[in-house]
Amino acid sequence: MADLNPAEFKLFTYPHRHIAKRVFKIREITSTNDILLTDPKKMFRSGDVLWSLKQSKGRGRYNRIWNSPEGGLYFSILFEDIPRLSAFYPFVLLCALAIRNVLADRTHEAFFTIKWPNDIYADHHKIAGILIQSQSTSQDSRAVIGMGINLNNPMQHIPNLRTPAISLHELTGHTSAPESFLEDILDLVDTYYRDFIHQRFSCYLPELNRVIYSKDKPLILTEGKRQRIVIPRKFTKDGYLTCEENGEMVVLMV
Ligand code: BTN
Repeated sequence: MADLNPAEFKLFTYPHRHIAKRVFKIREITSTNDILLTDPKKMFRSGDVLWSLKQSKGRGRYNRIWNSPEGGLYFSILFEDIPRLSAFYPFVLLCALAIRNVLADRTHEAFFTIKWPNDIYADHHKIAGILIQSQSTSQDSRAVIGMGINLNNPMQHIPNLRTPAISLHELTGHTSAPESFLEDILDLVDTYYRDFIHQRFSCYLPELNRVIYSKDKPLILTEGKRQRIVIPRKFTKDGYLTCEENGEMVVLMV
C-alpha cells in the first residue's frame, strides 16, 4: 500500500455533481475501500470516488473475499466528518437503489431487487454488493461506501459460492462499457444524495418497498454464523427492514 503512486491514477471531473465530482481510476489496487479509508498519500477528499479495474484484496461483508477480476466494476466513495454511521444507512440503501435502477433501465428487466441489507439481486442471483466501512482517529472520522458489480466478469463457473451469483454479461449476453455504467450510477447516487441530505429519504420508500427481495415470502437470512427465517414486509423511514419472524413483527438493523 505504501508504494501507491499518484501518477498511476487517471482523474475524471464532474463539476455539476454534489458528490462524485472527482473520479480517480486505476488499473489495479488492493481494495478501493481500504485505500480510501487509510488514504496513505493524503490524495482524497470527501465525495471523491476511487475506481479500480481489478482488486487484489477485494473485501465483502463479514470480512469475506470479494472476487475482483477484470471485467467487474469496483468503486468506493469517501465521506469525511460523518457524525453517526447509523444516520447514513438510508443513503447506503439509496446507493443500492441506484445500482438496481441502472441495471433495470439498461436491461428493461424488472426482476432486479434489493436483498437486505444492501445486496442487489437479478432474480435469485446476486449481481452486486455494497460494503460500508468507517474509521475514526483523533483528527477525523471517515466512512467509505464500496460497491462491486458483476458486469462482464464470469461468475457462474466459480465453484462453492456462498450465494448463487451472476454477471450482467451472463444475464444479457452483452458486454457493457464500465465507464458509462459507472457514470450512470454516480449521477443517480448524486441525485439521491441531495435528496437524502435534504431529508427526503421517505419519498423513496414506496419505490424501495416495490423492489424488496422476497417481499411477503419467507427468506433465510444468514448473518455471519446465524441463520433466521423472516418474511420481509417494508422499509422504515430510518432505512431498516420490517419483517415478520415467528409470527411477530421485527425490525432488522444493520
Ligand atoms: C458484499 O456483498 O459482501 C459487499 C461487497 C462489496 C465489494 C466492493 S468492490 C469495491 C469496494 N472495495 C472492496 O474491497 N469492497 C467493495
